[in-house]
Amino acid sequence: MGMALIVHGGAGKIEERHLEAHREGTRRAAQIGWQILQRGGSALDAVEAAVIAMEDDPAFDAGIGSFLDREGKVSLDASMMDGRTLDAGAVAGVEHIKNPIVLARRVLESEHTFLIGRGAEEFAREHNITLIDNALLRTPEQIELWEKCRAQPPIREGARYVPVQGFGTVGCVAVDRDGNVAAGTSTGGTKFKRPGRVGDSPLIGAGVYADNTRGGASSTGWGESITRVVLAKHAVDALASGCTPREAACAAIEYLARRVGGTGGIIIADARGRVGFAYNTPRMARAYIIEGMADIVAEI
Ligand code: GLY
Repeated sequence: MGMALIVHGGAGKIEERHLEAHREGTRRAAQIGWQILQRGGSALDAVEAAVIAMEDDPAFDAGIGSFLDREGKVSLDASMMDGRTLDAGAVAGVEHIKNPIVLARRVLESEHTFLIGRGAEEFAREHNITLIDNALLRTPEQIELWEKCRAQPPIREGARYVPVQGFGTVGCVAVDRDGNVAAGTSTGGTKFKRPGRVGDSPLIGAGVYADNTRGGASSTGWGESITRVVLAKHAVDALASGCTPREAACAAIEYLARRVGGTGGIIIADARGRVGFAYNTPRMARAYIIEGMADIVAEI
């Protein structure tokens, strides 16, 4: 048994010029989460803080700096799960929330598990979460990319969309001093997505899962494929059959590719405080630390 924390900053084809920002962004997020665990904080608090750090970092497709949809708006999805109680909270299609992971946490703590769009934002207002103008979530780099997409749309109707540019969905899994496991995932979804499109990230079992008796996982990548194999739950269940986190992650990604031709990545921490990850995209930004390690490892 030991504390552990692992984050991802998306799986895909991350361009060379973005590598350093992804490496440093995931390292910083892991550092913030790890400090909370070291001070005796909960896995839920560590996951929330690490994901907030990446939502606030425009390097990632979550929170500020997310991809824009076809209408030129940012629309955000997030989820969180508490492995102690199996309480879960998720939001989708929110357009006026700076940190959707905070809202997902509030939903987790409520009688609901999943709120969308206007109703989710009304719930946010009732829970003293400030609603912001959508323009504040849009960065000049994403507006420029959107203009290019408008000229040459990346999504082919009627055909399977195979992503070519990196997804920067973010996620975190943590195990705290008491052995509690938590996981969270947050995303702006796919580039130039159809308004209303929702991927795996807010879906409990697909984009996120946590169970103290096994471990937790957060997925990233092509949401339509990840959803169909319920990737995070699939990986966490593999821990129950004796797999290490690394083996469970590899088996899950192999299944994703074999069964639905999917692409993506996954991070896992098990209840013993071990971490693992796997991906079948060119890159996946990740950072991790477990008890006994001198420092955080951040890799792409
Ligand atoms: N994995 C993020 C998405 O497909 O929306």
